[in-house]
Amino acid sequence: MKFSKRSFYTFVCLQVFLFFSINLGCLQAGASGRETDELALLKFKQGITSDPHGIFNSWNDSLHFCHWTGITCGRSHQRVTSLVLEGQNLFGSVSPYIGNLSFLRLINLQNNSLRGEIPQQLGKLFRLQKFFVNNNSLNGTIPLNLTRCFQLNTIYLQRNNLAGKIPEELGSLPKLEKLGLCNNHLTGEIPPSLGNLSSLTTFSATFNDLEGSIPNEMGRLKSLNSFAVGVNRLSGIIPPSLFNITSLSSLVFAANQLSGSLPDNIFFTLPNLQAFLLQRVDMGGNKFVGQVPTNLGNLQSILRLKFEFNNLGSNSSNDLLFLTSLTNCSNLQIFSITRNNFAGVLPDSVANFSTGLIRLYMGGNEITGIIPAAMENLVNLIDLQLEENLFTGFIPSQFGKLQKLQSLILSYNQLSGQIPSSIGNLTQFSRVLLSGNKLEGSIPSSIRNCQHLYAVQIAENRLSGELPEEVLGLTSLSKVLNLAFNSFTGHLPTEVGKLKNVNTLDISENNLSGEIPETIGGCLSLEYLYMQGNFFQGTIPSSLASLKGLQYLDLSRNNLSGQIPKDLQEIPYLQYLNLSFNDLEGEVPERGVFTNASALSLIGNNKLCGGVPELGLPKCPTKLLKKVKSHTLKLVVAIACVVPTLLSILIFFLIRRMRKSRTKPSVAPLEMNHLLKVSYKDLYQGTDGFSCSNLIGSGGFSSVYKGFLPQVQTPVAVKVLNLEQTGAIKSFMAECNSLGSIRHRNLVKLVTCCSSLDYKTNAFKALIFEYMGNGSLEKWLHPCAEGEDQKRSLNLLQRLNIAIDVASALHYLHDLCGKPIIHCDLKPSNVLLDDDMVAHVSDFGLAKLFSINSNLSLSQISTTRINGTVGYVAPGN
Ligand SMILES: *[C@@H]1O[C@H](CO)[C@@H](O)[C@H](O)[C@H]1NC(C)=O
Ligand SMILES: *[C@@H]1O[C@H](CO)[C@@H](O)[C@H](O)[C@H]1NC(C)=O
Ligand SMILES: *[C@@H]1O[C@H](CO)[C@@H](O)[C@H](O)[C@H]1NC(C)=O
Ligand SMILES: *[C@@H]1O[C@H](CO)[C@@H](O)[C@H](O)[C@H]1NC(C)=O
Ligand SMILES: *[C@@H]1O[C@H](CO)[C@@H](O)[C@H](O)[C@H]1NC(C)=O
Ligand SMILES: *[C@@H]1O[C@H](CO)[C@@H](O)[C@H](O)[C@H]1NC(C)=O
Ligand SMILES: *[C@@H]1O[C@H](CO)[C@@H](O)[C@H](O)[C@H]1NC(C)=O
Ligand SMILES: *[C@@H]1O[C@H](CO)[C@@H](O)[C@H](O)[C@H]1NC(C)=O
Ligand SMILES: *[C@@H]1O[C@H](CO)[C@@H](O)[C@H](O)[C@H]1NC(C)=O
Ligand SMILES: *[C@@H]1O[C@H](CO)[C@@H](O)[C@H](O)[C@H]1NC(C)=O
Repeated sequence: MKFSKRSFYTFVCLQVFLFFSINLGCLQAGASGRETDELALLKFKQGITSDPHGIFNSWNDSLHFCHWTGITCGRSHQRVTSLVLEGQNLFGSVSPYIGNLSFLRLINLQNNSLRGEIPQQLGKLFRLQKFFVNNNSLNGTIPLNLTRCFQLNTIYLQRNNLAGKIPEELGSLPKLEKLGLCNNHLTGEIPPSLGNLSSLTTFSATFNDLEGSIPNEMGRLKSLNSFAVGVNRLSGIIPPSLFNITSLSSLVFAANQLSGSLPDNIFFTLPNLQAFLLQRVDMGGNKFVGQVPTNLGNLQSILRLKFEFNNLGSNSSNDLLFLTSLTNCSNLQIFSITRNNFAGVLPDSVANFSTGLIRLYMGGNEITGIIPAAMENLVNLIDLQLEENLFTGFIPSQFGKLQKLQSLILSYNQLSGQIPSSIGNLTQFSRVLLSGNKLEGSIPSSIRNCQHLYAVQIAENRLSGELPEEVLGLTSLSKVLNLAFNSFTGHLPTEVGKLKNVNTLDISENNLSGEIPETIGGCLSLEYLYMQGNFFQGTIPSSLASLKGLQYLDLSRNNLSGQIPKDLQEIPYLQYLNLSFNDLEGEVPERGVFTNASALSLIGNNKLCGGVPELGLPKCPTKLLKKVKSHTLKLVVAIACVVPTLLSILIFFLIRRMRKSRTKPSVAPLEMNHLLKVSYKDLYQGTDGFSCSNLIGSGGFSSVYKGFLPQVQTPVAVKVLNLEQTGAIKSFMAECNSLGSIRHRNLVKLVTCCSSLDYKTNAFKALIFEYMGNGSLEKWLHPCAEGEDQKRSLNLLQRLNIAIDVASALHYLHDLCGKPIIHCDLKPSNVLLDDDMVAHVSDFGLAKLFSINSNLSLSQISTTRINGTVGYVAPGN
């Protein structure tokens, strides 16, 4: 070691200085403070259990902690000033050591999956200014000690699982500007002390369980810009002082139990100009009464104004006077007064609302008069809902000009005349609900141009003529086609089979006749089919049995004859079958829906016999010879199917005797309710938004992603079902249930299921399995040249073990798990290998899961319709 003179002197001086200094302790703290920071960061790292993006790789000895990912230090003191690890998919908890990072000014851990409590030790961070932990899974309460960080300017705690009260002490943070608490489970009242937060601009506490009234003190928040307390249990009146705040731009009170009337001077307690900033007022879903003030036109900036679901208006003719003033709100986009007590004629002035208006909701009032044709001016309208009022007159044909209209809801009014053919002009049209009016004529054939329609309801009108083929050919229909209670005549066109996506078809209570076309079996997504109260004749088409998702079927009060098709008993989820008052004959089947007399109505068919005893029908005459013949055929098929299975089971037993030790007894059945609850959000976060980089496989029916869940420490495989067929929804839950109740070391373990709505409110179904580190057997047997970095191969012992594993799984499925289950699609790509090369059978139940009553034996199973194979079939290679 070599010292320059200069550094030598510096060194000596320093020693001398230190010796005499009373600041000795302080300076040492500079060095040990850095050690404390490093230790605290390492402890923080320890608290994180999963780091899929590998950001902690850089947190190692070879690098000064100031250069670790997400860390910023002060230049001179080299102490940690900010910790920013947002949106990194981190799992784990926040270490209390974070409280030792005493120079921290910014903590940003938002959009991760952190859980556990927010440590009280944060209270030691007296320099902390911004604290973001929103969008995690943190629980416990808001730490009281956080209120000791007097420099705090932003606290974002929204989207967690925090419970308990909002601490009164938050009101003592003089610099607090933004307080985000929404989407938690907070209870108790809003503390009046928050009125002390003179810098507060944003207060959001929507989606909690807050109660009590909104404190008057909130009116003292002179800088307040956004105040959102929707979806809580708040009661009492809105403190008038709140409307005195000139800086407000957004007020959300929706879905509480607030009451009182809206004062005449509601937004204008100060003269002029003061409400200029207000863009959003949502008072929906409360108990407000009285008239709406007529000076709302002063809300120059307003974009959204919602009064829906209250008790405003007084069922009198001047209730809607305030609408005219709204024509001054030139930015209005969304306006709703749905479900109040407004009466009177809809003024023509609605046609002069802002042309920027996209949603207009006035349903569920007592509004009279005609629908003003001049509303054609509202050219940006996407959604127009005027249902459940007292409108008379015609549907204006001018609406054909509303090129952006997607949804038109006019149900339950007193509209008459024809449906204007100009609706064919509405190419974006997706939902038209006109039930419960006095509409006549037919449905205009121009409707064929509306290629995005997913719901059509024109029931309970006076429509007549034949059912237009154009409507039945609308393959886009997915939710419902309801034409019940009209006067349609003629046949049901064969085009009905094109409704492949529709969930509910209701053509009941018309005057339809002729046979029910076999093509109805093409409506593969049907769950509800209503055809009762017509004059249909001929036999019940057996093609109905191909509607595997069907739950309700009503064919009553027609002239149907012949036998009940046996195949109807194979519809797995049918829970209501009404065939009453027809002319059916012969034997009633005894399985499926026919086992449950309360789900079944057969009265008014005098020639039926047999069925389960509860039906009380006469016995059928003994069976004919030709039936025996078909039974023999089935028996042959049965034997052909069963023998290979028995053989494989036999071989299995032989092998097992050779290698007794390998198989463990199977675990007791696990009920579905004990499984984890997993939300779409969890899965979305856990798979990085279902990103391509996490995609580990896909097929026609599903895509599989690798992911992490906050509730599970190990990685999981998330199998997302491709739900283009809505009929598959019910069968999903049942499959999920069956899979949930079986467990074996050689079956891929189902962790849980998720059935929910995705962010676009589409149905979303996923199965979550254990992740298998070594991929499929297929990949090991036939490694494809490209893509595989190293050649994989299996030795003889591994191959034997895999064979035994698969055999054990089959043995369990067929014989040991209560209801026998036939895999039907066993092949190497469906055998997955875990990290220890133990084989797990997967991918069963998605398309072909057969769960049979336990009193039936395997040989009987094979007489039912099985599309796959009972035993092992390798693909042709
Ligand atoms: C430490 O982190 C640096 C920076 O990321 C990295 O290059 C290095 O490989 C890491 N060292 C170890 C031992 O992980
Ligand atoms: C994190 O969340 C915020 C709002 O909570 C959002 O604006 C931002 O885009 C998100 N960031 C990431 C990386 O997901
Ligand atoms: C830091 O924090 C932890 C836990 O809060 C504590 O046990 C530890 O002693 C503190 N001090 C230092 C110097 O690490
Ligand atoms: C929550 O975090 C996830 C994961 O980073 C992100 O994709 C999502 O957009 C965030 N949600 C919100 C509402 O900020
Ligand atoms: C918070 O979550 C952790 C695990 O994430 C759990 O152990 C603890 O009991 C929860 N605490 C509360 C108060 O719910
Ligand atoms: C929380 O604050 C109190 C004082 O209000 C203090 O006594 C306590 O030690 C703090 N807790 C932690 C864990 O820092
Ligand atoms: C804060 O508000 C509460 C209740 O409104 C009040 O009693 C208290 O004196 C205020 N504190 C300060 C420091 O202003
Ligand atoms: C609103 O402000 C005005 C003028 O400052 C004041 O006279 C009035 O009392 C305030 N109203 C409420 C309810 O605070
Ligand atoms: C509104 O008033 C009419 C009579 O003008 C009455 O028939 C109707 O029942 C009233 N509706 C409600 C909801 O009070
Ligand atoms: C159909 O839309 C066009 C605008 O694209 C409009 O000019 C025409 O008048 C509309 N026809 C009817 C019948 O409304």
